[in-house]
Amino acid sequence: MNNKPNLDVARAAYGNPDYKSGTQYLSWPGHPLDYSHAYVVSNENLRHTTGLTRDMGRRVLTVAGSGEQPLFYTINGAIQIDTFDISYCARAIMDIKTQAIRSGMPYEQYKKLLKDLHFAPSASKVSGVSEILPKIPAHSAQFVRGMDGYRIFGNGLNPEYYASEMISETEYKTLQKALRGAFKFIWSDVATLHTQLNGEYDVINLSNIFEWSPDLIQPTLTNLRNYVRPGGYILVQTGCGMAIGKNMDKFIDVQDALKDWAKIGINKQERDTQVIILERTR
Ligand SMILES: C[S@@+](CC[C@H](N)C(=O)[O-])C[C@H]1O[C@@H](n2cnc3c(N)ncnc32)[C@H](O)[C@@H]1O
Repeated sequence: MNNKPNLDVARAAYGNPDYKSGTQYLSWPGHPLDYSHAYVVSNENLRHTTGLTRDMGRRVLTVAGSGEQPLFYTINGAIQIDTFDISYCARAIMDIKTQAIRSGMPYEQYKKLLKDLHFAPSASKVSGVSEILPKIPAHSAQFVRGMDGYRIFGNGLNPEYYASEMISETEYKTLQKALRGAFKFIWSDVATLHTQLNGEYDVINLSNIFEWSPDLIQPTLTNLRNYVRPGGYILVQTGCGMAIGKNMDKFIDVQDALKDWAKIGINKQERDTQVIILERTR
């Protein structure tokens, strides 16, 4: 994947700019693609998931998603946080949220920003965004402006629905002190992510990706072995109980194939949500 988004390709993928009529990106479930519309908040209990490795190292690689994953890892003390996602829209929402928080935006205004971004057909026209865009990475800002007319942050439900999963006011204040700048972003399918990595992380979080591609579980975990330190962790989770639950057997199956270097465990959360935790043993 080239590092710079291609606006013609992205607009063509969305098709009809009248988002109310639907596009290939506004149907669910669908396999995420290069410009899939992003979520503005997460439906997962990331407070719990990112807390699982709080004392286990500070170098984290995580899916960008709605930006909530790197933000919660920041709250939990990680210092070097790199992100990846198949969708460039995930990068854009992550950059906008990170800059909004760093800029000193009041918490209530931040919540309104997320709701407006979710519903707006043109993100750059949302109140507050014109001050944010000049301060985020240039390609990301150009992409947001260039996609006006397309609802690039329209995935999922009204963010107000996820009030308890959202960053709280206290966590928001922690972030305002801790955030240093934009997170590094690797635009990549998880299947080829290893080809773009250097060095070792303490924790790699693959979020809830494998519900779309369970056959990628074994090759992906194998490919990422050398990018997590011995004693480090690879996490996979789901937000609503149906996804990994459905593919749980796949993780059990790969346990045996990976047993020379990995131990796989399951952390159960409320609402049937589960986190698979792979530890690199050697
Ligand atoms: C279902 S979302 C939710 C993430 C999380 N709940 C959040 O909002 O922070 C998972 C993310 O994984 C990305 N994704 C899905 N399949 C992927 C793949 N094969 N490679 C890389 N990223 C992928 C999607 O684009 C999306 O941003």
